Amino acid sequence: MNPIISIKNINKTFSTGEEAVKDFSLDIMKGEILALLGPNGAGKTTLISMICGIIEPSSGSVSVNGFDVVKDYKKTRSIIGLVPQELVLESFETAMNTIQFSRGLFGKKRDHEFIKKILTQLSLWDKRNTTIMELSGGMKRRVLIAKALSHEPSILFLDEPTAGVDVELRKDMWAIIKNLKKQGVTIILTTHYIEEAEEIADRVGIINKGELLVIEEKRNLLNKMGTKTLTIELNSKIKSIPNSLSSYNLQLASKGMSITYNYKKQEEKTGITSLLVDLKKAGITLKDLDTNQTSLEEIFVDIVRK
Ligand SMILES: Nc1ncnc2c1ncn2[C@@H]1O[C@H](COP(=O)(O)OP(=O)(O)OP(=O)(O)O)[C@@H](O)[C@H]1O
Ligand SMILES: [Mg+2]
Repeated sequence: MNPIISIKNINKTFSTGEEAVKDFSLDIMKGEILALLGPNGAGKTTLISMICGIIEPSSGSVSVNGFDVVKDYKKTRSIIGLVPQELVLESFETAMNTIQFSRGLFGKKRDHEFIKKILTQLSLWDKRNTTIMELSGGMKRRVLIAKALSHEPSILFLDEPTAGVDVELRKDMWAIIKNLKKQGVTIILTTHYIEEAEEIADRVGIINKGELLVIEEKRNLLNKMGTKTLTIELNSKIKSIPNSLSSYNLQLASKGMSITYNYKKQEEKTGITSLLVDLKKAGITLKDLDTNQTSLEEIFVDIVRK
């Protein structure tokens, strides 16, 4: 399958000398949800701005649907919807007008039913005649999403879509994003909420200091880099791990009332079966078992630190 977005060796050095994006290459496939994670100043917004044709790369190229984002700006921009990180809206305009106006800017015919559909989807229909300045922060962010969708784009960029949005609304947003994917929209989002990537992304890219450190299917990332911890709760306290179990690299926890064992889930032999047999041989009886998987958050922190 051809990528819908192809980024080839782009760099961005600002006039200040700041190298915000360094030799960045990436193919984005049609219909995927890609989450870009990275600390403040990593270059996420700069990268998105270059793909959307808002700023020009210092070198390298980006094509969207086969067209160059600099030479064929109008063509590429018309199929992209962008929800910017900053709230940029006309305070005195109503939600409805904001969206209709934006659709018009892209040369699309008025379509009341379509606008009604997106406003309803984003729970904004009741607020359609309210001016932007009378809306709450979370509502404004939803207006931005509606605005980005107003010209029916096939690619949607969401730069921190749920910053400042409450937990319930965040879940609604995830449902909306998943629904857009079902309609065939390709979605690229940046986020600081790692559980957001964990919840909705197909692929996860980790960016730090302008460079792409990791790009991987979310499932593989969790399997490959994550470890699982088995916690074995004991019936009675032990002072130390018996010598017969020294090959397992076990840790004593909860003041001798439990043992923890780390293993890689994707490995053929996790060692759990033999560990349980050997525990029995050593005369240790179990009260309960519990397993815990490393989260994307722990993987992220680990990669960025290295
Ligand atoms: N217009 C500009 N002129 C000069 N430097 C800039 C400009 N825009 C961004 N930068 C710098 O480029 C780097 C990357 O910024 P960018 O906004 O892309 O980061 P980000 O990953 O989006 O961060 P955040 O998570 O805080 O939104 C930063 O060091 C920033 O100061
Ligand atoms: Mg940013």
